[in-house]
Amino acid sequence: MVKLNVELGDRSYPIYITSDFSGLPKAVQGARLSGKAMVITDSNVCSHYLSMCTEQLEESGLEVHSHVIEAGEKSKNLDTVKEIYRLLMSERFERNSALIALGGGVVGDITGFAAATYVRGISYVQIPTSLLAQADSSIGGKTGVDFEGSKNLVGAFYQPRFVYINVNTLRTLPVRELSSGLAEVIKHGLIMNAEFYDYIDSNMSKIFNYDESTLQYMTKMNCTIKKSVVEQDEREGGLREILNFGHTFGHAVESASDFSLLHGECVSIGIAGAFKMALRLGMISSETAAAVENTLKSAALPVRIKGMDTQKIYDNMLHDKKAKNGRLSFILPREIGDAVSCVVDNEQLIKQVIEELKE
Ligand code: GLY
Repeated sequence: MVKLNVELGDRSYPIYITSDFSGLPKAVQGARLSGKAMVITDSNVCSHYLSMCTEQLEESGLEVHSHVIEAGEKSKNLDTVKEIYRLLMSERFERNSALIALGGGVVGDITGFAAATYVRGISYVQIPTSLLAQADSSIGGKTGVDFEGSKNLVGAFYQPRFVYINVNTLRTLPVRELSSGLAEVIKHGLIMNAEFYDYIDSNMSKIFNYDESTLQYMTKMNCTIKKSVVEQDEREGGLREILNFGHTFGHAVESASDFSLLHGECVSIGIAGAFKMALRLGMISSETAAAVENTLKSAALPVRIKGMDTQKIYDNMLHDKKAKNGRLSFILPREIGDAVSCVVDNEQLIKQVIEELKE
């Protein structure tokens, strides 16, 4: 088992990377959790892992309850959070109780937000089972829900007590979701570590064949990159913005698709957009932009948009919470492994790039 530590002073916590759930009791004891815990999971994940996890959590002495929410982004709202509050109230959960997020990004974000707000904050644990959650959303304490069509509009920064990653849960993930998660992994290489990007590029078939040591190494490298950014800028005052690489175009496309595209698929299109914009601004070469598109395609990710209106995508960008005073900022590549935040105040250029993404 690999153990990394996210160093955030009194909010520090370990990330365990392993290939089964047998290390959960020790992880619970290490976090000094006791009393009541409620596992929040979804209708896809529960049949695979709920009883396995509950067994291990009970072994650590916890009184384990569970609640299953409907799988999918549509559950990521305040009504689902209210349902959780009601259950916690009826089961008399108190300040020393805990929530356990068992599932993908939606489950993790909702559970973290419920934990951040119930009786002004109780402990929670992340057991991410999708690659998107293992690679990105379970680390760094971003929690929240969508509100009136705006993604993650309501939320809080609230760190978990530990993150427990069993890479073998990826075996039950639909392959489209594996690709979607890979977009975030590729993103981390592109912004911070060219060697890691090359590793992913050259080991794509092993990843899709669930080779355990490849998955463990990929997860360790990926979490090391993500945690280093979070450690330097927990509340996104500056550096952490870099993790939004591909997300300015990506979130706008995601909303325009009415969430029919997966998050990572939109990030992939957004990465292609960021490279196209960097190319137009003379920051990178066309060869580099083409090579990155090929990597994304080899992960079975889309790099073009279909049937979407340019003005709608542009308007979505302006309404995104990342827009500041109506100005759009983009994370743009300077080379593979290095990216920078740029304000782009040129509507025509942005729309040209959106048009290019349709070709
Ligand atoms: N997913 C981006 C971040 O954690 O900041």
